[in-house]
Amino acid sequence: MDKFLIKGPCKIKGQVFISGSKNAALPILASTLLFDKPVIIQNLPQVKDVDTMLSLLKSLGSKIQFLKNKKVVKIYKTKEQKYFASYSLVKTMRAGILVLGPLVAKFQKSITSLPGGCTIGARPVNYHLNALKKLGMKYEIKKGYIHASSNGKLKGTKIKFSKISVGATENSIIAACLANGKTILENCAIEPEIKDLVNFLKSAGANIKWIRKRTCQIIGINSLNKTTYSIMGDRIETGTFCVAATLTKGNLKIKNFNPRLIQTEINLLKKVGAKIQTGKNEIRIKGPQKIKNISKLVTKEYPNFPTDLQAQFMVLLCKATGRSRIIENIFENRFMHVAELRRLGAKIIVKDNKATIEGKTDFLGAEIMSSDLRASVALVLAAIVAKGETKINRIYHLDRGYENIEDKLKKLGVNIKRLS
Ligand code: UD1
Repeated sequence: MDKFLIKGPCKIKGQVFISGSKNAALPILASTLLFDKPVIIQNLPQVKDVDTMLSLLKSLGSKIQFLKNKKVVKIYKTKEQKYFASYSLVKTMRAGILVLGPLVAKFQKSITSLPGGCTIGARPVNYHLNALKKLGMKYEIKKGYIHASSNGKLKGTKIKFSKISVGATENSIIAACLANGKTILENCAIEPEIKDLVNFLKSAGANIKWIRKRTCQIIGINSLNKTTYSIMGDRIETGTFCVAATLTKGNLKIKNFNPRLIQTEINLLKKVGAKIQTGKNEIRIKGPQKIKNISKLVTKEYPNFPTDLQAQFMVLLCKATGRSRIIENIFENRFMHVAELRRLGAKIIVKDNKATIEGKTDFLGAEIMSSDLRASVALVLAAIVAKGETKINRIYHLDRGYENIEDKLKKLGVNIKRLS
């Protein structure tokens, strides 16, 4: 199993290009099941979760052809359509559940594995199932699989999500594209990745409109046209590099990302002392000599502060001049990184979904272990500012979502090595 060896402390300096967004790529790839005609997707990030989604599409009968360094992919249908999404693929990446909506909408049947839990929480799929049921999907759960079907096309209807869910919003939007009539989805998630999915579907002729801030109207059509679409930049990768620069008194230019999409994070980083200038698709960020604390940082649905940057900000707050508090509102078990950060010297107390972080930590290198994708990158950040050598085990979690992270960090001045 690969490990990272990082010798710190290092300073982040230079320029970095942001890759395509993993969380936009996954629903967009799943939605290609709706198409009869070929689709070309550009700016695909080369990360493990995208490979897994492509394997899932292949297992369902899609033909995958890379056109350029695996960054551009052409996806088209073969005659051998299949409807079975296996546990072995869906368990490694929960977004596998996103094939359920398109399979039922397009072919009126599917057997899709339940994803199961993961380290950050139970992560049920009840909102996905309830919404698809309202659209006319029938299902039964047998031996860990969702056996789903519908009598003819799905039927447009009004659905109000009881809680905001990114995945359930995506599955429902995708499914409603080919339903009969009008679907109104209320209390939708409005993450930029969902807007990217909608823009992709609209580029192929889907009739989708945001009629209120969290209300989406979809009028079903018979079929989608061929299209070529370029995926947006990765919001979480961008936020992670912003934290890296702030943390290390660095000086970084971030290219290929629209700063307006991370306004909440930029405001917070300014509050802790970073100097930030933004351009059209560019961010310049300089870290302060002293990082100020944040008395209360709460994770919440977009446009609020994202849970996927909680662990990275926690590392930053370990170096602040005073005490900070983080409240995790999205996932019940998303403080897995705390125990590992403590091994590096962090002083953090966790009670339920609240973490109290003492500042002024002098991180000291040690051997530590990754637990999930975002926790892993937080450990990398801590190792970058830690004195001495840190060995991070189980970095396969990082490979799920960060493209070329060690090469990008190396170019910015980090002493990092992958041990295979
Ligand atoms: C997506 C992102 C993930 C991010 C999360 C929250 C992708 C591929 N993943 O995950 O990186 O951390 O949004 O921003 O885009 N829930 C239920 N029942 C459901 C669905 C969700 O109880 O049917 C709960 C979840 O357990 C969680 C909360 O709702 O506590 C939000 O989850 P959701 O927004 O659905 O996250 P994902 O789509 O899984």
